Amino acid sequence: MNTILVGAQWGDEGKGKIIDFLTEDAHIVVRSQGGNNAGHTVIHAGTKYVLHLIPSGILRPGKTCVIGNGVVIDPVALVGEIEGMKKLKVKIGKNLLISDAAHIVFPYHRALDEQREIAKGKNKIGTTKRGIGPAYGDKAARTGLRMCDLIQPDVFSAKLQAKIKENNAILKALGAKPISFKEVNDTYLGAAEKLRPFVTNTVVFLHNALKAGREILFEGAQGTFLDIDHGTYPFVTSSNTTAGGACTGSGVPPHRMDRVLGVMKAYTTRVGEGPFPTEDAEISDMLHAMGREFGATTGRARRCGWFDAVATRYATMINGIDELAVTNLDGLDKLARIRVCTHYKLGRKTIEVPPTDTRLLVQCTPVYTEFPGWQTATENAKKFTDLPANARKYLHAIAELTGAKLRIASVGPGREQTIVL
Ligand code: IMP
Ligand code: MG
Repeated sequence: MNTILVGAQWGDEGKGKIIDFLTEDAHIVVRSQGGNNAGHTVIHAGTKYVLHLIPSGILRPGKTCVIGNGVVIDPVALVGEIEGMKKLKVKIGKNLLISDAAHIVFPYHRALDEQREIAKGKNKIGTTKRGIGPAYGDKAARTGLRMCDLIQPDVFSAKLQAKIKENNAILKALGAKPISFKEVNDTYLGAAEKLRPFVTNTVVFLHNALKAGREILFEGAQGTFLDIDHGTYPFVTSSNTTAGGACTGSGVPPHRMDRVLGVMKAYTTRVGEGPFPTEDAEISDMLHAMGREFGATTGRARRCGWFDAVATRYATMINGIDELAVTNLDGLDKLARIRVCTHYKLGRKTIEVPPTDTRLLVQCTPVYTEFPGWQTATENAKKFTDLPANARKYLHAIAELTGAKLRIASVGPGREQTIVL
């Protein structure tokens, strides 16, 4: 069975942990979009692993991980990540493949990302400043460099020289520091030597694997409402974070996908700017005081709010989510009453679907229904029946409001804190 796993909210739904868990039953794990803006945290046997570009499946021996054509790669960051994982005793060798068609992120992309944010002033997106938007911009403009360029030094240096010249003119006009060709050329060619053994045509690899009956898990990064087409534009990332992105970003066709699993928190969070109808100070303060909800990539405190079923219902529709994994249930353990947004009010109108126009979405107020809390620690629950009755009711209710089947509930970061229904 081939599974696409997507985030059903604004990212940070706990996808890394669920991927790590599901990898037990898969042969191959594929990242198909985004870059090192992603931060997937997995805690196993007391060790914390934070992955940005390498699929979370890497922590399971015997599995193959693929960084697909749809990903944008910062090669220096990737080398750092591989070396960091090796220090934590994670074996990386033939189990990692990198697409030769994946686009490359350069220092000028990061500089432009930063400059564009400054220029936007109070309308800034709150990006991770990893250069993701400008790198995808070059890809769409057909002026990007790909991994197949990086591993051919002559081709690479000539193309890079032209790109640095073009971008330095822009950076200079913006009053930013120019980028040194020599420095980038040296560090990137150094990274190329380390990455070359992993670079291949991953589309062919995946099709051969399909023919051999291997099962593939597609690891989504970010979340549905950060999707460039379907998210809260312009407060989005620059890739297709929704299920379709798994096909274009890997070269595996839609009819080979068997299941879409949506991951969502038992509440809602978002990092960066942009509309967030159910944002709430009470739940934010409580979660931050518990030491929860600080970003894995930038360390920023995430904005927190109540569960938004208008959003997750829409996510179910766009992605074709058939099964749900609800994470961070334990984050709600202390609350006496828990709110869930079932609809939005826009002026006098009650609406079921988030408005496309971000200016209207900002004006929406949530209509809540309340659930009694369970006020019991859930972190040690192993089976669904171990959970307090109110927690079980809450989980069933949010799954029903979302419109998909509840399959997994997670009560902590550990592998063993995963309940399968
Ligand atoms: P960018 O992807 O760095 O361009 O950032 C665009 C928006 O997406 C910002 O609001 C970021 O905070 C958000 N974002 C990007 N990657 C992630 C992620 O992995 N988790 C959560 N938010 C993200
Ligand atoms: Mg994250």
